[in-house]
Amino acid sequence: MKKLFLVTLLLGSSMGILSAQTPVYLDDAQPIEKRVEDALNRMTLEEKVALCHAQSKFSSAGVPRLGIPELWMSDGPHGVRAEINWNDWGYANWTNDSITAFPALTCLAATWNPEMAAKYGKAIGEEARYRKKDVLLGPGVNIYRTPLNGRNFEYMGEDPYLSSVMCVPYIQELQKNGVAACVKHYALNNQEQWRDHIDVNLSDRALYEIYLPAFKAAVQQGGAWSIMGAYNKIRGQHACHNELTLNKILKEDWKFDGCVITDWGGAHDTYEAAVNGMDIEMGSYTNGLTSESQFTYDDYYLARPYLQMLKEGKVPMSTIDDKASRILRLIFRTAMNRQKPYGSLCTVEHYATAREIGDEGIVLLKNRPLSRKGEPLLPIAADRYRQILVVGDNAVRVLTQGGGSSELKAKETVTPLDGLRALYGNKVRYARGYAADAPMYGQAGKIPQQVADSLRDEAVEMAKQAGLVILVGGLNKNYLQDCEGGDRVDYGLPYGQDELIEALLEVNPNLVLVLLSGNAVEMPWVERVPAIVQGWYLGSMGGQSLADVLGGTVNPSGKLPFSFPVRLTDCGAHAFDALSYPGDGVRQEYKEDILVGYRWYDTRKIPALFPFGHGLSYTTFAYGKPVASARTMAADGSLTITVPVKNEGNMAGKEVVQLYIGDEECSVLRPLKELKHFAKVALAPGEEQTVTFTVTPDDLKFYDEAAKAWVAEPGKFKVYIGASSTDIRGTVRFELK
Ligand code: BGC
Repeated sequence: MKKLFLVTLLLGSSMGILSAQTPVYLDDAQPIEKRVEDALNRMTLEEKVALCHAQSKFSSAGVPRLGIPELWMSDGPHGVRAEINWNDWGYANWTNDSITAFPALTCLAATWNPEMAAKYGKAIGEEARYRKKDVLLGPGVNIYRTPLNGRNFEYMGEDPYLSSVMCVPYIQELQKNGVAACVKHYALNNQEQWRDHIDVNLSDRALYEIYLPAFKAAVQQGGAWSIMGAYNKIRGQHACHNELTLNKILKEDWKFDGCVITDWGGAHDTYEAAVNGMDIEMGSYTNGLTSESQFTYDDYYLARPYLQMLKEGKVPMSTIDDKASRILRLIFRTAMNRQKPYGSLCTVEHYATAREIGDEGIVLLKNRPLSRKGEPLLPIAADRYRQILVVGDNAVRVLTQGGGSSELKAKETVTPLDGLRALYGNKVRYARGYAADAPMYGQAGKIPQQVADSLRDEAVEMAKQAGLVILVGGLNKNYLQDCEGGDRVDYGLPYGQDELIEALLEVNPNLVLVLLSGNAVEMPWVERVPAIVQGWYLGSMGGQSLADVLGGTVNPSGKLPFSFPVRLTDCGAHAFDALSYPGDGVRQEYKEDILVGYRWYDTRKIPALFPFGHGLSYTTFAYGKPVASARTMAADGSLTITVPVKNEGNMAGKEVVQLYIGDEECSVLRPLKELKHFAKVALAPGEEQTVTFTVTPDDLKFYDEAAKAWVAEPGKFKVYIGASSTDIRGTVRFELK
């Protein structure tokens, strides 16, 4: 009888008919903290510990006795990954798990448009929700330190401010669906080589000024409900149970109230995981990718061994109460959230969002006329050529596959060749030109030289007949390219593409090069290729977005979220010995310190091939003189900087106006300048707008290692207004009092 009453009560409450006897934890009219406390009080120690580790590859347990549901997780971050088997990494072969593939996060960052990030978060959140996921493993905000990092395509570039601004709306909109973001990989997972054990050592300044700000913004501004601990070590201790980054910085200083989830297989020690801020252990006893052994989830570090230590008094009970509270809070916010919407999958709107982000993220690197009197090659007018030759493996390759955990089962994919054929019809011919093996985690097979030669020769022969050649090349998602688990082995283009480019140029100088990659590449032929487009990995609508930009229905407005160095050794991380990159196999020291990306090139006066913030348009923008509202700023004051920007061409376009600040008098080394604000403005032909930025003392601060605080020293500062980090259109000085 009693049992029956409880069943009726539970049923009633799940239907929203809550009676006075409804347990507090089930009553969503109650404050979440009261519900957490109530649930915690009802739970046994065993039930609390069961929350703290996986029960399958992508789920962790709830509390079945109390009707508290499990947590279901999924990769992330560019779409919702296909279903994986319960206990191994094989795909489960469901037929209802195809999704919309969104552009890679490097492309999102290249839009320099937070509105795009909001649309991205909303759309991917709706898909995650429809797929019944509670936690989406993304976004990734590790800093682009070296162009060799195999996972740069999953991150938002080299600048902490840009990645902070761009990750926040993604997280906020995603979580409106009752799906938690799991921001990764916290922290310092800036290379894939030796990622599971390399011990990263760096100064406090580099840590606080460069590598942490995006995570902090994700937590404090984005309100992220979970965060993923990285594989690597930080100052001698694994990131998944790191006293400094988890206990001190994340939970104490930033007041993070969500869950820390390990990267898959990132936990290594029960005691440390218990006391150093780890909440949910996932993926242990696997290499995270390909191999699998028989094991029971009860043997996880945060399972039976943890329970035993708790019972023996070897770790405080407060640790389990803290973890269980955080996990319950996450469950209430997601799996047990009755207010959440139902989501949707592969809608017209999601495809439109993927296309729009691609349209805005594609970067026009170069577009020079062949002769003084000639026109630039782009945009390509349909009537200009009788025949257009498309060359390249990447013109037909499905680049949502491969690359590691971000790989996707896209329902629809428009390849670049599809997109260009739809635009230019039967003018388009295709030659592969070069080949790469199928995407896979292990070493991809090598294409025999004879095959490579004949593919190149065929393309060159066909290029002789064509009015225009569009080569769609770059990297791909094979191992040792843009792929998890390994770094690139060299900076150049793979698969003989340099030779192919040279050979095509010999017979036809009308060459448009489209690079699909998440990384910079070396370009020995750069002076001779008249038009170069950085096309990232664009997901389902990639070919469509490329056709939009190449054909000129969309005016390109993307700007690089990271610099392209001329040669690898120009890059700060590579300017020192192997201990700086990739480390000696055990330890690593970030010797370039705070001078990451453009901070290095600027300060050391090393010209980049294409600088941070660079991106051309089919129109031209004229900048007026920037004006500061005052010559001095009080320590608690602010000032505004205004700058008029005019579209001087005859095509509507968008420009990203960038504001950098340099500290001219300082007791410590500071970069020549740092990005502090930006604004993307849409301008009709002939239109002028005044862009206004508000600068505050926070924009002037550095991390003072002795004081362990952010400090702005009085003195002179210089504001640089630019169309890129090197294309500076005006400056203005002021003094901080
Ligand atoms: C990756 C994570 C990913 C996880 C689950 C790990 O190997 O580093 O980014 O979310 O696997 O697939």
